Amino acid sequence: MQQHYLKEAVTLEIFEYICKATEELQLESYVIGGFVRDFILERGIAKDIDIVTVGSGIELAQNVASLLPNKPKVQVFKTYGTAMLRYKNMEIEFVGARKESYTPESRNPKVSVGSLQDDQNRRDFTINALAISLNKANFGLLVDPFEGMIDLENKCIRTPLDPNITYSDDPLRMLRAIRFATQLQFEIEATSLSSIGANAARIDIITKERIITELHKILEAPKPSVGFLLLESTGLLERILPELIALKGVQEIEGQKHKDNFYHTLEVVDNIARHTDDVWLRWAALLHDIGKAPTKRYHPKQGWTFHSHEFVGSKMVYKLFKRLHMPLNAKMKFVQKMVLLSSRPIVLASEVTDSAVRRLIFDAGEDVDNLMTLCEADITTKNPKKFKRYHKNFQIVREKIKEVEERDKVRNFQPPISGELIMATFNLKPCREIGQIKEAIKEAILDGEIPNEYEASYQFMLEKGKTLGLETQV
Ligand code: CTP
Repeated sequence: MQQHYLKEAVTLEIFEYICKATEELQLESYVIGGFVRDFILERGIAKDIDIVTVGSGIELAQNVASLLPNKPKVQVFKTYGTAMLRYKNMEIEFVGARKESYTPESRNPKVSVGSLQDDQNRRDFTINALAISLNKANFGLLVDPFEGMIDLENKCIRTPLDPNITYSDDPLRMLRAIRFATQLQFEIEATSLSSIGANAARIDIITKERIITELHKILEAPKPSVGFLLLESTGLLERILPELIALKGVQEIEGQKHKDNFYHTLEVVDNIARHTDDVWLRWAALLHDIGKAPTKRYHPKQGWTFHSHEFVGSKMVYKLFKRLHMPLNAKMKFVQKMVLLSSRPIVLASEVTDSAVRRLIFDAGEDVDNLMTLCEADITTKNPKKFKRYHKNFQIVREKIKEVEERDKVRNFQPPISGELIMATFNLKPCREIGQIKEAIKEAILDGEIPNEYEASYQFMLEKGKTLGLETQV
C-alpha cells in the first residue's frame, strides 16, 4: 500500500516534544481526530489537539510536560485514563489507544487497552479516524485505514464500522453526523443516514446538555436548515424539538390554506444566519413561530388566524429551555422577548407612525436592532414585488427608529417625574394614584402628546392630578 506523508500538518513545535517523549518511553503516538480533519480541509489549526498513544496517555502527558520549557501542569482524569496540558494557547489531550464495548443502556463503554487500529475502529466517522504518526521512524505518516481521505475529498460522512454499531454504541453520533454535514456541507452516506433513522429513538439516552451543544453548532453553521431538514427526515427532531414538527404541514378549509410554518421557519433561520452570528438571535428565529401550532384556528370570515401566537410562543420558549436543560438566564429572556415582539415591526411596515415607532423602541429597548434583523429575516414571500416593498418599508422603519431615538431618547426610558415628586406635590402617602399618574405620563410621552422632558411632564402631572381630584401642596 502506498504510504502518504502529511509532514506539513505536524510542523507545530509541540509535535516535536511529543515525538521526543514517545521515543523516551518507547511508545507509539499519533495526532488524531478533529485536528487532522480540519488541517486537511484547510479549516485552520485547531486549538484542541487529540493525541493517542499505544500505552499510557497519562504517562506520555507527564513526560511531554517535563520536556516543555514552561513545564505546564498536567491535568489527569484517572477515571477516563486521559490527561490534558495547555501549551501556547492549545489544549492537548492524551489518551491511551483503547478498545470499547458498549451495552444497550448506556453511552459509557467498557474500555480495554488496544492497538491504534482498535482505537480508530471505535471512532465516529472515517474523517475523524485519520491519524498522523508522531513517531521518529515515520514522522508525518498518515494512517487512514477507512479511506477517510477519499471521504474528505468526496465530502462524505461515513462510519468506520457498520453504522448500526457506531450509532447504537453512542447515539450522540447521530447528531454529530448531522452537525458535521451542516458545518462542512458534506453528505451523509445513504446507509448511514437510514441507520440514523432506524436508531433515532436511542437519542433519548443522551444528556440534554450534549444535545444542545450539537444543536448550537448546527445553528451556528452558515446554512442551518441543512441540519434541521436532516433532523426532521431522520425522526430526531420529533424527539428533540417536537414544537417545530407541530408547525409542519398545510391545512386547507374552504379553499383557504395557510403556509407551512416549519419550512417557513427554516427559511427565516437561513436568512438570519446571513446577517448575524449571534446564536441566540438564531434561536429566536428558530422559535419565533412555535406559538402558531397551538393557536391555529379557522374562521369562515377571517380565514386562518394565529391570535396571540407571539405571547403563547414566548411562554413555550421557557418550557422548551427548561426541558432541554438550557440556562434560564438573560439569554432565554432575550429569546422570549424576540418571540413576543416578533410581529411588531411587521405591523409597522404598513404604516410608520412616530408613536408606533416610539412604542417599539420603548418595548424592545437595547434589542430593537436585533428585533429588526429578525423581522427582516421573516420576509420569505416569493412574490418579488411584495419582497421589495416589505424590505423598503423596513428601511423606512429603521430610519424612523434612528430619527425618533435621537429626538425622544426612549430606548432606556427613565420616567422624568419620580414617584417621590408626585407624593410631595400632592401630599400623598403611597397609593394607587401615584402609579396612575406615572403611567399616564409615560403614555403621553410614547404617544407624542408631550416631549420626554421634565418641564412638560411636570405640567402634565399637575393636570392629571386635577382630573383625579388631587390638590397640590402649597
Ligand atoms: N469521537 C467519537 N465519538 C464521539 C465524540 C468524539 O468517536 N461521540 C472521536 C472522534 O474521533 C473525534 C474525536 O473523538 O474526532 C474528538 O472529539 P471532539 O473533540 O468532540 O470533536 P472533533 O472531531 O475534534 O470536532 P469538534 O471540535 O468540531 O467537535
